[in-house]
Amino acid sequence: MNYERLKQPLVLVIFGITGDLAQRKLLPALYQLAKADELPEQLRIVGVSRRDVTKAAVFSQLQAFVNEPDYDVAVEQRLKDHTEMRQMDLLDKGAYDALLQHLQEIEAGIGEDGCRLYYLSIPSQAFTPIIRLLGETGHNAPLAGGKDAPRLLIEKPFGYDLASARELIAVLGEHFGEGQVYRIDHYVAKETVQNILTFRFHNPLFESIWNNRHIDHISIMAHEKIDIEGRANFYEQTGALRDFIQSHMLQLLAITTMSRPPQLESDEIHTEKIKLLEAVQPIAPNQVSQQTIRGQYEGYRDEVSNPDSLTETFARMQLWIDNEDWTGVPIVLETGKALNEKLTEISVCFRQPDDSVTEQNKLVFRIQPQEGITLRLQTKRPGIQNVTGSADMDFDYAKSFNQRPAEAYERVIVDAIRGDQTLFATSAEVIRSWEIVENVLEQWSHSQAGLQVYAKGSEGPVETEQYKAQ
Ligand code: BG6
Repeated sequence: MNYERLKQPLVLVIFGITGDLAQRKLLPALYQLAKADELPEQLRIVGVSRRDVTKAAVFSQLQAFVNEPDYDVAVEQRLKDHTEMRQMDLLDKGAYDALLQHLQEIEAGIGEDGCRLYYLSIPSQAFTPIIRLLGETGHNAPLAGGKDAPRLLIEKPFGYDLASARELIAVLGEHFGEGQVYRIDHYVAKETVQNILTFRFHNPLFESIWNNRHIDHISIMAHEKIDIEGRANFYEQTGALRDFIQSHMLQLLAITTMSRPPQLESDEIHTEKIKLLEAVQPIAPNQVSQQTIRGQYEGYRDEVSNPDSLTETFARMQLWIDNEDWTGVPIVLETGKALNEKLTEISVCFRQPDDSVTEQNKLVFRIQPQEGITLRLQTKRPGIQNVTGSADMDFDYAKSFNQRPAEAYERVIVDAIRGDQTLFATSAEVIRSWEIVENVLEQWSHSQAGLQVYAKGSEGPVETEQYKAQ
């Protein structure tokens, strides 16, 4: 990776700077990077919005979202000084011409050998016209004095289903090269998720047992305590399967089970990831009811003002991987909103060779909160009897490294500036992930069958109880 890049001038164009995501994640990440002096000195942020919004309004909530005791107003001021707002009609081609001219003027002033990033922090339905207009008006062309072409960062969901994802990818492909497109899956950029690859491929101890001869099952869960938090429109069209499983959880699955790439480098990692995803068996239409559970929290329909809503706020899915290493190992993905706790973890449960072993060894990657890794082992209980008991060996990030882990969005921005695509989803990965869930989406969209209501703050639909023991 080329750390020098962060010294190059940067022009960051944020579409949707007033939106929820930019406010909650993007601006706080920029604040942290600015605070740590990790942003280039020559920096311009151009906040694009349809409405006439002042800079003061854009930054008014930053402190609340950064939410740290030693909040530094000077850093906020620095960011503000580097930012300008630009109101524009997002469907007017002339506005894109004018924007390009303006960006080129900025670049002429701060150095044309830099990097220009477009960050589309907008609802995915709005992607296509904006991508087209950016392409048609030349925003995709290399910078005047630079070697690199501008990069486009886009947020999931990439499409609404398989067909729309293919369309979106085709439109992107018409205007931007694959090397210019950075599809953000912020889960992949979480420190603890990146550590899975390091852990797997730098500890030979585990590498030799990472297969179906030793592993019994894997469960990946992402439970959230928060509900849809007023995002009724977004969530009603999305649901847990699209919001989490098609994107974050299939990426986590791929990272946990892909084979070792020859080098831990972007292209080779993506090659192994797609090979793995190709081996994941899409759920067949006649297996949907056996392999999935869906739920909706009580009160959701009132929140979205749709008494007939079929949108799931909880989804569980069992998948199988058809390759030499993983045949026969069930992989369970489970996610839900308004549950009793915020917990994201991946549990790898090992086989018991015979009855003398009473409990499975279990390796748990704790993605959040309390980031770390736990290994559950069997030990002899103290005392004169020979009785075994379970004990946990714990690695805790906070205790071992007395350092704040970088937030996923900080990493996303830095990697995009550096031009490192390792942590971004490729178009092939996106398409394959939609293929895996397509039949489930199809059935869930027009039938209420099996949709279970669960209480807010509970563990989810009662039907999942039988699996909890695992
Ligand atoms: C987003 C989802 O991708 O991730 C949200 O759209 C969800 O619904 C969020 O709340 C959770 O992210 P994190 O990093 O807080 O676990």
